[in-house]
Amino acid sequence: MALHRLASITIGVPNVEDTCRYYAEFGLTRDGATFSTRDGGEQLVIAESRTRRLIELSIGADDPDDLDRVTDRLARLGIATRRDPATLSATERHSGVRTVIKPLPRISPVLGVVGPHNGPGRSERENNRAPAVLREEPSRPRKLGHVVIGTPSAEASQRFFVDGIGFKISDQVRGHAAFLRCSSDHHNLLLQPSPVAFLHHTSWQVDDVDDVGRNAMRMLEGHPERHVWGLGRHFIGSNFFWYLRDPAGSFSEYYSDMDTITDDERWTPGNWEPSLRSLYAWGPDVPPSMLEPDDLADLMATSNQN
Ligand SMILES: [Fe+2]
Repeated sequence: MALHRLASITIGVPNVEDTCRYYAEFGLTRDGATFSTRDGGEQLVIAESRTRRLIELSIGADDPDDLDRVTDRLARLGIATRRDPATLSATERHSGVRTVIKPLPRISPVLGVVGPHNGPGRSERENNRAPAVLREEPSRPRKLGHVVIGTPSAEASQRFFVDGIGFKISDQVRGHAAFLRCSSDHHNLLLQPSPVAFLHHTSWQVDDVDDVGRNAMRMLEGHPERHVWGLGRHFIGSNFFWYLRDPAGSFSEYYSDMDTITDDERWTPGNWEPSLRSLYAWGPDVPPSMLEPDDLADLMATSNQN
């Protein structure tokens, strides 16, 4: 039938143990260098690498026929694939990302409890405090939502992921970003042009905006240097966001309330002009490190040594 989920990622970092400790604190459940979410199961592996980068992206499909179709499409693009009965893999050579597709069950999340909310002319919660202010435990992320990478050949990378793998384009910002989905989430993969391949950020779903704020504030206790950008709301994708910096220099985002696309006919992909408006609806000023990594010179120097 179709691709239906972003299953897992392997990220490479020069400082594995520090980065592992960070993601355990972030709320993922650690088993060695493998991390799980509440709804998505094992979704993150942290491996040794000279620069911070996305090594592998794993995608769930409904059945083996989907793998056959992807194999044919990649062959038409002249891209070599490795195939066994259970998996298909191919590497996108510009970003260096190995992409693996395998038949997997669809995620069935436990229903999140959000609200009740009060508003003008609407009182869903009378004579009671908001449940959100009574929450005490940090919330564990529900699932990996998306991953964002820089790639030195954004057009070729997009051809691989869209024409080859079968991602759909949800929105684009001309010359700057392509928001791609392999599920009903607005985006699961975002490609940005960059002089060097690198991991920009990973994004993890929590129940609501209260959990975005609560979790981020908890991560900043004693670590103000982790703060990057938030709290805010994106325009493209509509999600609330808060970005933090991990010890390798990549960002990790808590998000909630992203757009979902369940009927391709009813969604009109936008082709937006680059502007702050396309980046966010509201929030603090965007920090320069969101637009260009602070360590770009180091990333370029290290990758040129290869
Ligand atoms: Fe994001």
